Amino acid sequence: MGSGTLPTNAYATLEHEHVLLFRKGGPRSFPPNDADRYASAFFWEERNEWFADTWEIRGTGQGLSADDGRRERSGAFPLEVPLRLVRMYSVRGDTVLDPFVGTGTTSLAAMVAGRSSVGVDRDAELAAAFAERAAEAAALSGELAGERLRRHREFIADNPENANYAATHYDTRVVTQSERDIRLSTVADVDRTADEPLRFLATHEPY
Ligand SMILES: C[S@@+](CC[C@H](N)C(=O)[O-])C[C@H]1O[C@@H](n2cnc3c(N)ncnc32)[C@H](O)[C@@H]1O
Repeated sequence: MGSGTLPTNAYATLEHEHVLLFRKGGPRSFPPNDADRYASAFFWEERNEWFADTWEIRGTGQGLSADDGRRERSGAFPLEVPLRLVRMYSVRGDTVLDPFVGTGTTSLAAMVAGRSSVGVDRDAELAAAFAERAAEAAALSGELAGERLRRHREFIADNPENANYAATHYDTRVVTQSERDIRLSTVADVDRTADEPLRFLATHEPY
């Protein structure tokens, strides 16, 4: 359009970054009643919020100092963003590849969600930042699982007319049959190897 006919300060700012998700291979299929698939299901109210086309997520601090430039270089975003995406587009035990892993928010999300992950970055120094975060994965995963269940119980308490089925693994009701076998997991431990590339070996346990 050119700029001659527009107000002088009429230029668009880029308010959004796109998240690109790719999956290796063709369409996936699962055997009937696949345990990982059912364990990875969402509570009904989570599904309604997460699969909506707008999310409201407030940013949280990630322990990166603005002074040393790491925040600027890492392009860090709130854990909640990759955590939802990992849960939405993979199932327990899958492997998530982040080819631009930065400080590892996506890999941390995969770890706390009971997935494996592979991260690649051209800046080797960032691996140290991930080591710090991996050390907190066990405590973080316990907090997240507890919070998820607490919020679900609160939803059921507020909506008793929707409490249709008993959950198999938790003392709670659920709305649909596909939620019955939801099984949350936590990180039990993370071991770090000394090799290059670094490996963080997480073991998981049911919550
Ligand atoms: C926005 S950050 C990634 C954030 C990350 N996805 C997360 O979940 O926290 C982008 C990263 O891509 C890395 N990067 C950029 N170009 C690259 C390349 N050609 N190969 C590998 N890493 C690259 C940068 O070093 C930077 O750490």
